[in-house]
Amino acid sequence: MKTVSSIQELKAYLAAERQDNKQVGFVPTMGALHAGHLSLVKRCREENDVCVVSVFVNPTQFNDKHDLETYPRTLDKDCALLETAGCDYVFAPSVEEMYPEPDTRTFDFGTVSAVMEGARRPGHFNGVAQIVSKLFYAVEPNRAYFGEKDFQQIAVIRAMVKQLQIPVEIVACPIVREADGLALSSRNVRLTPEQRQKAPLIARTLKESVTFAAGKSVQEVIDYVVNRINAEPDMRVEYFEIVDGNTMEAIGQWTDTTYPVGCITVYCGEVRLIDNIKY
Ligand code: PAF
Repeated sequence: MKTVSSIQELKAYLAAERQDNKQVGFVPTMGALHAGHLSLVKRCREENDVCVVSVFVNPTQFNDKHDLETYPRTLDKDCALLETAGCDYVFAPSVEEMYPEPDTRTFDFGTVSAVMEGARRPGHFNGVAQIVSKLFYAVEPNRAYFGEKDFQQIAVIRAMVKQLQIPVEIVACPIVREADGLALSSRNVRLTPEQRQKAPLIARTLKESVTFAAGKSVQEVIDYVVNRINAEPDMRVEYFEIVDGNTMEAIGQWTDTTYPVGCITVYCGEVRLIDNIKY
């Protein structure tokens, strides 16, 4: 495994790989890797000849300065995990390498990026589109792998590659969960032991809501989920929306879409957790 920090060097390595007709798979990350990331790396390895993983905490997607400053940076540990997982190239650039000058691009992806996370975290998806497009230009992957925990992010990235005509296949991979159902996230380590015990209520309620949904309206399912989670002290639903899984538009009736997905964000104490479920 090679660890590379310059775009030029990375491009040189990958150009040599492509001369042998090799397919390049790519997993973009912000580091602090867990089993969810490693499942993406595994899938990437299975479906490509070369596996590239980027580790870069992207400043432009943080709308909260404190969140950016305190984001865990564990490159040595991440590299050790990636080596074991069979990654070929770790791309770990500096901020100066990725942003030699400010990125002034402003994207408009319509509803896909305007609702849910987009409405609550102004500028977040614009920053994601900036960095992921730059990473795609650097790596030029055949396929790129993203976890479905960040369900809306995948829709934004699909819209971005379509708009910028970047020839890459976006592969959405299932959420990896703890044994008690909690979706893996780099933020889980911030939960106190008590909050960690309570947090699986989110996944449990979403799962139960699928059974509950039979014969119920969309609004009844929303109320069921929100009321159950909010009934737990120290947990507060920021939003729960049932949307069309392609457009992210909220549905009023089940017949509005063939692909209904419930997307939730919950504060467990101060920790913001997200999850989703397909109906
Ligand atoms: O999902 C993430 O970790 C980040 O948003 C991504 C896609 C690596 C871009 O910085």
